[in-house]
Amino acid sequence: MPTLAHSLAATTRASRTVNVPLGDRAYDVLIGPDLLAEAGRLIAGRLGKARCGIVTDENVAGHHLAALEASLRAEGRHKGSIVLKPGEPTKSFRELAPLCERLLELGLERGDLVVAFGGGVIGDLAGFAAGILRRGVRFVQIPTSLLAQVDSSVGGKTGINTPQGKNLIGVFHQPSLVIADTDVLKTLPPREMRAGYAEVAKYGLLGDAGFFGWLEQAHEGIFSYDQETLVTAIETSVKAKAAIVARDEHETGDRALLNLGHTFGHALEAWTGYSDRLLHGEGVAIGMCLAFRFSESLGLCPAGTAERVSRHIGAVGLPTKIADIAGGKANAHELVRLMGQDKKVKDGRLTFILVRNIGEAFVSRDIDEATVGAFLEREIEAA
Ligand code: GLY
Repeated sequence: MPTLAHSLAATTRASRTVNVPLGDRAYDVLIGPDLLAEAGRLIAGRLGKARCGIVTDENVAGHHLAALEASLRAEGRHKGSIVLKPGEPTKSFRELAPLCERLLELGLERGDLVVAFGGGVIGDLAGFAAGILRRGVRFVQIPTSLLAQVDSSVGGKTGINTPQGKNLIGVFHQPSLVIADTDVLKTLPPREMRAGYAEVAKYGLLGDAGFFGWLEQAHEGIFSYDQETLVTAIETSVKAKAAIVARDEHETGDRALLNLGHTFGHALEAWTGYSDRLLHGEGVAIGMCLAFRFSESLGLCPAGTAERVSRHIGAVGLPTKIADIAGGKANAHELVRLMGQDKKVKDGRLTFILVRNIGEAFVSRDIDEATVGAFLEREIEAA
């Protein structure tokens, strides 16, 4: 029977562990290469005799499901795998119901585990299913995109989309373990890797100027899969997220800082119909550049800061302005209307994450629509 020491030793070369300190719901995030092959032992060593039902999508399954199944089977933990269609439409009530029924048909019991093996869509959907299955079973996140490794797999937000908006239905349900295998990222399309990088840069921009400065120097190592650089970037991001989640698990205050760039970004995503025109991370990239330019225009942030941010975001090949989105000119009134539908609206006021400098974000709830609209009109015309 594998021991905890055995499974810890099995976290291989260059791997790191970040703890998310949430009392009796605390858990570890394991980050490093080669972890998929060790997943069975890592899960068995930390979470006991539970059996695992894997939820994944066709893309991830094609590349990596056999390796994960073999690893779980070697420990006698594999109960079955459910392979869903990739893409945002899968995160819906329509897919949730059959998924829950298929998990029950696998014979998963109260003490067993759902393994969410994929990007943000799979993590959010499978985590939500785990949260409501038998009134809540434990789940393990094995994120396969950079975005999921640094953001969505950590912190316990789960849910689905509805015609009224993204992520409006869901529960907070913390995973019991997160296994972020950096080798898996090598099969990610470059555009997805860049989109995930926007969330890495976000941690520097919202609270750690030193990290942003390091990324300006080191980012090429991330895209060339230099393990030391990649693991350090993910570890630093996850540590930043863990600290914020530990302070404010249910987003009554500080956790909103993680939404830097997201109020603008979500409106742009909605405007482009959540299509291939704009990936979530690309919307966040533009949104963060807008947040810095908006802060500068309000006199909150020193002149030149937004230019430095855009220079770096652009250097990795991410979009930095609304005009970078192909396929038609945006309308400021429409974007403001879409912001009003965001779940970050409180008492009818738009919530923005603004900045006093790089690494100095704060939550602002007193921005009126006319000011935002005029700023967006200038942004759209300046294209
Ligand atoms: N992705 C933002 C959060 O987890 O709060």
